[in-house]
Amino acid sequence: MNHLTLNDGRSIPQLGFGTWKITDEDSAPLVKKAIETGYRHIDTAAIYGNEAGVGLGLRQSGVDREELFVTTKLWNDDHGDPAAALRTSLDKLGLEYVDLYLIHWPVPEQNLYASAWKTLVTLREQGLAKSIGVSNFYAETLDDLQDSGVVPAVNQVEIHPTFANRATIEANTARGIVTESWSPLGRAVDLDIPILELIAARVGASVAQVILAWHLAKNFVVIPKTVSPARMRENLETLDLVLTDSDLAAIDALDRGNRTGSDPRGTVPRPTPSSA
Ligand SMILES: NC(=O)c1ccc[n+]([C@@H]2O[C@H](COP(=O)([O-])OP(=O)(O)OC[C@H]3O[C@@H](n4cnc5c(N)ncnc54)[C@H](OP(=O)(O)O)[C@@H]3O)[C@@H](O)[C@H]2O)c1
Repeated sequence: MNHLTLNDGRSIPQLGFGTWKITDEDSAPLVKKAIETGYRHIDTAAIYGNEAGVGLGLRQSGVDREELFVTTKLWNDDHGDPAAALRTSLDKLGLEYVDLYLIHWPVPEQNLYASAWKTLVTLREQGLAKSIGVSNFYAETLDDLQDSGVVPAVNQVEIHPTFANRATIEANTARGIVTESWSPLGRAVDLDIPILELIAARVGASVAQVILAWHLAKNFVVIPKTVSPARMRENLETLDLVLTDSDLAAIDALDRGNRTGSDPRGTVPRPTPSSA
């Protein structure tokens, strides 16, 4: 497994397993299967409603806690009390700590993210989150965290070939923040693009593998979700796929500004799993 080094000195497995839209019931067997397949990094969130199932799958895998990297996220309604929210998440997961705790969305209308961030710094000091970061933050909201003296380790944001999100990536890089791609396959919408099919045929890979290899080549952390054991393996095997510079440039040229999720500068995403 490839790892990237975070700005707090810890390391993160570059390819993880996303769990959004996987039910609590299905999460245990799927997380266990993912770990058996070779994944060591699992991404969940309080709003996904599956932390208990994810935690069960982690335990059922039999793999030592220290070998696993678990991320969960603070939901928008809980910016006022991140300590209580993390306690609830840890109880559901059945864990003593998470490896990464993220503020899920900045929700600028609430204007609570900077104070929530200061609490995350305390939670890290207490060892309840080994690393702390954000999700769906953009340059201005990242700058609003400066008073804390701690720069987020990760910013998890929407990125896939038809939504390159370049300004946010530049903002992350300039601040020493690792970029993590959510919906890295564009929720499967990006899988039918002819140029990707041509590259895939030439290199003997699937289109999903070509897209994931593009994320890895750009030094992003990437967390594809699948309920299929065969696709779990296929996505993990991307770690062995290297694309040429001209392939990478051809994929870069596919940017159309096609968001699949909410614009974090806009209205608050509705507090339901389907809008997370
Ligand atoms: N921070 C945030 O705000 C945020 C927002 C969205 C997502 N996320 C995180 O990012 C993770 C990934 O994003 P996502 O779940 O939205 O979308 P995604 O990973 O881009 O795409 C998932 C879709 O692609 C399909 N798929 C997966 N591997 C495939 C393969 N090899 N070949 C063909 N189809 C394949 C899946 O179908 P099957 O399941 O049927 O295989 C599913 O329909 C989430 O699970 C979640 O952990 C975070």
